[in-house]
Parts: sequence; structure tokens; C-alpha cells
Amino acid sequence: MHQEEEKKERQASQGSAPGLAGKVAVVTGGSSGIGAACVRALADAGATVVIGYNEGAERAQALREQLPGNGHIALRIPLTDGAAHAATAEALQRSFGRIDVLVNSAGFTRRIAHGDLDALPPALFDEILGANVGGPYAITRALMPLLRASDDATVINMSSVSAFTGLGSNIAYCAAKAALDTMTVSMARAFGPVRFLSVAPAAVDTGFVPGRNPDELAKKAAATPLGRVVTPQDVALAVLACVSHLRTATGTRIVIDGGHSL
Ligand SMILES: NC(=O)c1ccc[n+]([C@@H]2O[C@H](COP(=O)([O-])OP(=O)(O)OC[C@H]3O[C@@H](n4cnc5c(N)ncnc54)[C@H](OP(=O)(O)O)[C@@H]3O)[C@@H](O)[C@H]2O)c1
Repeated sequence: MHQEEEKKERQASQGSAPGLAGKVAVVTGGSSGIGAACVRALADAGATVVIGYNEGAERAQALREQLPGNGHIALRIPLTDGAAHAATAEALQRSFGRIDVLVNSAGFTRRIAHGDLDALPPALFDEILGANVGGPYAITRALMPLLRASDDATVINMSSVSAFTGLGSNIAYCAAKAALDTMTVSMARAFGPVRFLSVAPAAVDTGFVPGRNPDELAKKAAATPLGRVVTPQDVALAVLACVSHLRTATGTRIVIDGGHSL
């Protein structure tokens, strides 16, 4: 066995993470909430991180300046803009020549009661579906040559318990996350040894759902088996575990919901 692999084996058998020094990680939606927590966790583990943002250029730059280590960059990676995806791939090819970790965390939603069909016209349904599953598809597609250039690449799709409970901010969002999970399975089968995993949190206390009340979130969480709200840091640790420890897991979903969906 190669020396480096032996070292990884030893570290894993002792339960310690191999560390991500020398690895390149891209986090879409890295400018905020769960994505920003993933950026911090990956940089703390030693990775060089590309912070993807959309409108939050200043937040992304401020986060970059706080990270340990060198070489981190902030890039605009919109969910639905093919030209921007091609430009991102070119820039990352020039700077790094490969990607070891891709976290598709960017997403958006609206709060629409499931019974209110007037408030979810087909155009808005398409927009939500297109952004939340078409976006990760298009970005992964553009970055696939760089992922395949790594000898150990992991793609994490940020899903949600909405994918299988059908409960969530609106019907299109639930459908999008279910589609994202299925895409994770298909891509895992088609593109191994690149690994694909969905991470599915319950409600996390970020500004993701406009108009959501933190008290309401805390009240709901109190009634779950673990009795607490899932934090962005909880999600980031799950992402790290997927990258560092779940080395033979691919094409599956890791649910981190405090028992919310039981
Ligand atoms: N919070 C929850 O309750 C929860 C639960 C389960 C799953 N999730 C999932 O977790 C992911 C992150 O959510 P969050 O809670 O971290 O929300 P957040 O704090 O609102 O962050 C959303 C991120 O997505 C980016 N984004 C939004 N629209 C975009 C677009 N059109 N193109 C590119 N980037 C875009 C934002 O970038 P800018 O700020 O730079 O514009 C921001 O970085 C989402 O995929 C969401 O579905 C969230």
C-alpha cells in the first residue's frame, strides 16, 4: 500500500480525520448561513477554499479574510448562468487544476402555504426547481473535469428533510430537494470514483426562509427527540464527516435533523 494511503488508513482506524491540507474545496452559497459554516470548517481542516457567492460579494470577502491558511478566494458562482459556470471552471483550472470537494449549498426559497396554488404559479415553480436542482446540476457538470482530475473527490449536495417529508417552505422547494437527492444517486453511479452525498438537515436557524420566525423554529425543535434546533455548524460537521470519514459512502443521504422526521 502507498505510504500516504497507509497514513490515511491509520488515522481513520484511530478515529482522527486525515485533515484536508493540500485539498481544494468549492462551496457555492459560501457567503452565508450553512455554506459559510462549511467554508470555515473546511478551512479549519486545512483546505484551500473557494467561497461561492451571488449577491454577497462583501460578505464573501470578509469571510475570506477571517480564514486560517492561504490561497482562499471568493468567486461569483450564480446558480443559473452557464457563462459564469464556464468562467468559474476556467478560473479554477488555471488556479488549481483540480477540485477535491464541491459543496452545493446555494439555494433560495419563498414561504408559500402548500394549499395556496395561486401563490405558486408554474413560472415560479420552474424558477425554484431550476435554481435548487438545475443549479447544482449545471455547476457540477461544469466542474466535473476538475473533480475527475482529483484522486479523491467528494460532492455534497445540500438537501433537506423536505425531500422526503414533503414538508417545507413550498411545494416546489420540496420537489426540488427530492430531485436533488435522486440526482445524487444517479451521479454517484455514473461518475464514481467521485463520491456524491446528500446532506439533509431539518430547519436551520439562518435567514434562508424569508419571514420564518426563530421562536417558531425553536418551539418545533423542542418537540423533536434531540430537543434542539440544528445549527449551521452541525451541518458543516456533517459535511466534514462525509469528506473525511465516510470514505466508502456514495449515492446516499445523510439526515441530520435531531430526529425531526421520525
Ligand atoms: N436554513 C434551513 O432551514 C435549511 C434547511 C435544510 C436545507 N437548507 C439548505 O441549505 C442551503 C443553504 O441555506 P442557508 O440556510 O445557508 O441559507 P442562506 O443563509 O440564505 O444562504 C443562501 C446562500 O445561497 C446563495 N444564493 C441564493 N441565491 C443564489 C443564486 N441565485 N445563485 C447563487 N447563489 C445563491 C446566497 O448567496 P448570496 O448571499 O451571496 O446572494 C447564500 O450564500 C440551501 O440549499 C437550503 O435549501 C437550509
